[in-house]
Amino acid sequence: MFKKSILIATVGLNFLSADGLDLLKSKCASCHMLEKPAPEIIPTLKAPAMEAVMYHIKLEISEKAKIKEFILDYVLNPDAKKSVCESNKVEQYGVMPSLKGSITTQEISQISEYLIEHYPSKLFVEMIHQIQHNDTLNALQNSPFLINKESLPHLTGLLIKNWDKKALGLSQTQKEKLLIIRKETINSIQQIKTKLETLEAEVIEALVDKEPTESVEKKIKEIAELKANATRSHIRCISKTLEVLNEEQLTYLLPFWGM
Ligand code: HEC
Repeated sequence: MFKKSILIATVGLNFLSADGLDLLKSKCASCHMLEKPAPEIIPTLKAPAMEAVMYHIKLEISEKAKIKEFILDYVLNPDAKKSVCESNKVEQYGVMPSLKGSITTQEISQISEYLIEHYPSKLFVEMIHQIQHNDTLNALQNSPFLINKESLPHLTGLLIKNWDKKALGLSQTQKEKLLIIRKETINSIQQIKTKLETLEAEVIEALVDKEPTESVEKKIKEIAELKANATRSHIRCISKTLEVLNEEQLTYLLPFWGM
């Protein structure tokens, strides 16, 4: 008897309350865009688009119940440390303000159900994959490296994206070491890039001016040597970074390689 009346009361409540989409619109859409954002408007948003939020959540959490738990907790007690989005997102937008007091757990639960069911859309996921693919191609085209296979990871870039995530758990000492490695690598690659650009321009010029091939030969060798050096720096950076990270941290980063 008692159970039955609770059941009726709950059903009644659900019936009376607005559905997930309406709640999403009234409680979240003032900050989170609900439609798929066109790439060019992404920089103008005041919070990450809901598509992006759910994309990152689903990358990191697979169980539906855990996702609901995460959203419930984040809406009431947001914290940069809990964030599953890229670390630069929190920097860019500031931490989300808590909605405690203006939303009930029941409402958050309905919103999560809706989000889990409908987000991210297939179109958004395709767009992200396309952007990532283009980024990879651009990186390869502008790469100063001798070996520029996609499989050679951009480890420091990956770390910066995940810098403050609790799940990665970088200690202060690790961060200091990693920043030094990053700085050394960037400096040496930058220097090489500048020299490469000059040399390559000179080679092209020589061809246009119909200079004899022998005069170009020396420059080609220099270019090859510079690319070899860039690759050495890259490899040194990876192995030094691996020394700083522990097994658990590597296991955490592994699925993000090549993204
Ligand atoms: C006043 C603006 C605002 C409102 C309203 C708002 N958010 Fe946010 N939210 C943000 C900002 C800014 C971020 C990005 C920074 C961060 O992650 O804390 C964010 C991030 C998030 C994240 C990602 C956490 C992560 O991993 O970084 C989730 C989940 C989220 N919001 C859910 C919601 C839901 C659900 C609602 C509606 C119930 C909502 N937000 C309403 C501003 C808002």
